[in-house]
Amino acid sequence: MNKLYGLIGYPLSHSFSKKYFANKFQNEKISGCAYDLFEIDTIKKVEQVFEKKNLKGFNVTIPYKHEIMEYMDDFDHSAKKVGAVNVVKINNDGSRTGFNSDYYGFRKSLEEWMPRSFKSNALILGTGGAAKAVEAVLKDMSIPFLKISRHTTKGDQTYEILKGNPTLFDDYHLIINTTPLGMAPKIDALPDINYKRLNDQCYLYDLIYNPAETRFLGEGKKFGAKTKNGLQMLELQAEKSWDIWNS
Ligand SMILES: NC(=O)c1ccc[n+]([C@@H]2O[C@H](COP(=O)([O-])OP(=O)(O)OC[C@H]3O[C@@H](n4cnc5c(N)ncnc54)[C@H](OP(=O)(O)O)[C@@H]3O)[C@@H](O)[C@H]2O)c1
Repeated sequence: MNKLYGLIGYPLSHSFSKKYFANKFQNEKISGCAYDLFEIDTIKKVEQVFEKKNLKGFNVTIPYKHEIMEYMDDFDHSAKKVGAVNVVKINNDGSRTGFNSDYYGFRKSLEEWMPRSFKSNALILGTGGAAKAVEAVLKDMSIPFLKISRHTTKGDQTYEILKGNPTLFDDYHLIINTTPLGMAPKIDALPDINYKRLNDQCYLYDLIYNPAETRFLGEGKKFGAKTKNGLQMLELQAEKSWDIWNS
């Protein structure tokens, strides 16, 4: 094995990335590469990961997407814009560059899905880590948006205020769920918006990929909205990591 990649985080019991790269290496007959899980209970232990022989880069998951930033020498546009790193590249001179592949995954999937003529505003439901990547993409694509939170201090509006505006979806056609509501195993949950007011001009994007159709998307469909789940974003962000490490 002459190229080592992997994932740091804690805990790492359900890793999409490990399976993704094992399949990729097999299907594309890529030899000499390994993708390992580095479960570390404190970010300080990343130093041991950096010492691994033939390490070319790794993915970063919860809870280290911010803490890893102090171990980087520089950042690309995506990481600067989002303020978090989920891909680390070890350059040929040993220096370390931080990237955010959620930014690229979300952007490419949105550009492929939305019509080029789209001219409306967006609502981002939730204000966590994934929302930051969504926010950065919408800014770069010049799509105006509101951040919706349960708390008055965290977003631009609360769900309560949204529900009091019956014509809201006339001006906000793109609605992106970045909350974990509806994710397996709690598949009955859904964000608290007025689904009956949705219409066939609306686009509902759920970052969740399991289940493939959340209740958020199911309710949207009932009222004519176009829907998309988070699977393509997930695959695109993994593939982007590979491109980063091998460019
Ligand atoms: N498809 C992909 O490639 C991809 C990539 C990244 C993440 N994701 C998915 O995106 C989702 C969010 O990930 P994350 O890392 O951003 O999580 P996170 O940091 O925990 O943030 C989620 C946000 O959702 C809101 N929220 C949490 N619990 C809620 C509840 N019970 N009711 C209403 N709102 C709630 C919170 O915002 P407020 O406190 O402001 O309400 C919170 O900040 C997960 O399902 C994750 O699997 C998918």
